[in-house]
Parts: sequence; structure tokens; C-alpha cells
Amino acid sequence: MKTFEEINLPAARYHLFLCAGPRCCTEAEGLATWQHLKAQAKAHHLPALRTKAACFRRCAEGPWLVVYPDGVWYSHVTPERFDRIRREHLEGGTPVAEWVRAVNALGGE
Ligand code: FES
Repeated sequence: MKTFEEINLPAARYHLFLCAGPRCCTEAEGLATWQHLKAQAKAHHLPALRTKAACFRRCAEGPWLVVYPDGVWYSHVTPERFDRIRREHLEGGTPVAEWVRAVNALGGE
């Protein structure tokens, strides 16, 4: 088995999945959050892989952000909300409880 470095991926603490619409939010809203997420992750050297997803089957209240391995689901993730999620959850280790819509850590019981 190879390490992430051996296949040219950075070591990561998180994997962020963002549904950028078009049904849970407008394409413009989704794209704005996606571009912001990518720029902030790079600027702050977040140890996070990033994936833009097509649909989480929750086609309202987007953009949706799912943070693994925690399994935390955030709705309505605007660029401004992402900044707080970055600071408190991704850098600080504490999810922004008031914006968490569900938790489903994989591998649980
Ligand atoms: S389009 Fe975003 S959850 Fe379905």
C-alpha cells in the first residue's frame, strides 16, 4: 500500500465535500462557495482534501458541506459561513453547532 505522498496527494486531516447545486442552491451560489472554499483552504494551508459533489439528495437549503471523518453536515454554506466553519471546526476542532444539520460519522454503529 502506498502513502498519500507516494501518489502525490498531501496528507489530509479532513475531506470536504461541497454540493454546489443546482437544485439545493443556485449554480451561482454554489460556485461562489466552492471558489471561496478552495481559495481559503489554500491560503490557510488547511489539511483538507476538497471535492465538489453533484448532489447529496438533500435538494434544498444548500450549498451543503459535509466534513469527514467527522460526518458533520452543514446547510446554507455561504462564503461567509465557510470562514467561521474553517476557523472553529477545521482549524479549531469544534463544529459550529448552530449550523450543524446532521452528524453521521462513517464506521459507527
Ligand atoms: S443538488 Fe445539492 S443536494 Fe441535491
